Amino acid sequence: MNYLNVVLVLMSFTTVSQQNEDAEFIPATQSDLLKLLEIKEKPSVLRSRSQVPKYVMDLYRDQAHFGGFTKAWKSAPGTTIRTFFRDTRVVDDGRLFFFNLSALQTKEKVQKAELRIFKRRSKLDSSCGHFKVTVNRLNRRVVRDGAASSWKKRKETVVDTKLVKCRRVGEWIVLNVTPAVTFWNSWPSRNFGLWITVTGLGAPESDFYIATGGRKEPILIIYGDSQNEKNDHRLLRSANEVPKETRETYQQHTRSKRKSNEGAFSSTRSRRSVDEDMCTRHQLFVKFRDLKWDKWIIAPRGFKAFYCMGKCPEVIDKFFNPTNHAIIQNLLHHRHNKNIPAACCVPTSLHSMTIMYFELDGSIVLREYSGMVASTCGCR
Ligand SMILES: *[C@@H]1O[C@H](CO)[C@@H](O)[C@H](O)[C@H]1NC(C)=O
Repeated sequence: MNYLNVVLVLMSFTTVSQQNEDAEFIPATQSDLLKLLEIKEKPSVLRSRSQVPKYVMDLYRDQAHFGGFTKAWKSAPGTTIRTFFRDTRVVDDGRLFFFNLSALQTKEKVQKAELRIFKRRSKLDSSCGHFKVTVNRLNRRVVRDGAASSWKKRKETVVDTKLVKCRRVGEWIVLNVTPAVTFWNSWPSRNFGLWITVTGLGAPESDFYIATGGRKEPILIIYGDSQNEKNDHRLLRSANEVPKETRETYQQHTRSKRKSNEGAFSSTRSRRSVDEDMCTRHQLFVKFRDLKWDKWIIAPRGFKAFYCMGKCPEVIDKFFNPTNHAIIQNLLHHRHNKNIPAACCVPTSLHSMTIMYFELDGSIVLREYSGMVASTCGCR
């Protein structure tokens, strides 16, 4: 991911939006940003923010700080978490759970997949026994056999089993369906859905109800990694948990240095005006609402990218975290030959961002993008 691209795109966007000059500029910026985020097309929204399951909102809070900065230590595996909703348009039967996984790219490596179903509270008065819940992967398309609830030659493979206590309160049941999703990722045309069977152990099966609507509808959550993801982003992230809002400026830095040499040097007031445009990190915030993206980007509300701008001094101080190469090149520029470029003010460490958005088909993607935010700036 090219960080410079982001900065250039965003900088030009803020400038234009402030001046409110060029109406054509916004669509161009939008498509550049979509490309950067590897999103093919801006989704037309099928769902609203209020339909995001609570569990998925909590997952986001587990992954990211307020503002979208990726947390260094998070419990969920993978860098991309997808949430699919049940598709009942194909066959509507209480036991068949079909999820259209066409949004799941085959290059994504599936780490874990779980089916979450909400069991409604038991209607029976006394506390009863248990239910044995089994989730199966269907091996062929189910065909209805005339009569309402009988199915012809069902063939299936057991994926996971859970023993659930019959209770007076509703609860989420989490079934591990990783083998089924891994199989479908290799053979997408053989996704005929999941089939749930319930056996009562001292409890009547008729008392087992699965919620189908609202925030309790069944969901399939897939934790995966994009295979083209760089591995170095974790190191960068741990070096700098959250970009600091207030950092020592070059002025403070030189002032404190001068203080330690008090008496030997008098304060040189004329230096200060030079110091002010020294290489430093600047604030840059883009609201998704300004891009008209707030309907399909669920979180965060905006983008705090920061950018690096300013001059590098002739002799580059350690404060700017230079490489030896930058020091030499800068000296050559100032003292020898102006054709040799001076050192540049660039990000010296970057931070990841986690963005949650709706996919074209209405599924939810929670994804970590590395190298999105400048944590520190320096001369390189
Ligand atoms: C799954 O979704 C894709 C794209 O939205 C669509 O082309 C395809 O027909 C769907 N498959 C089924 C079985 O509904």
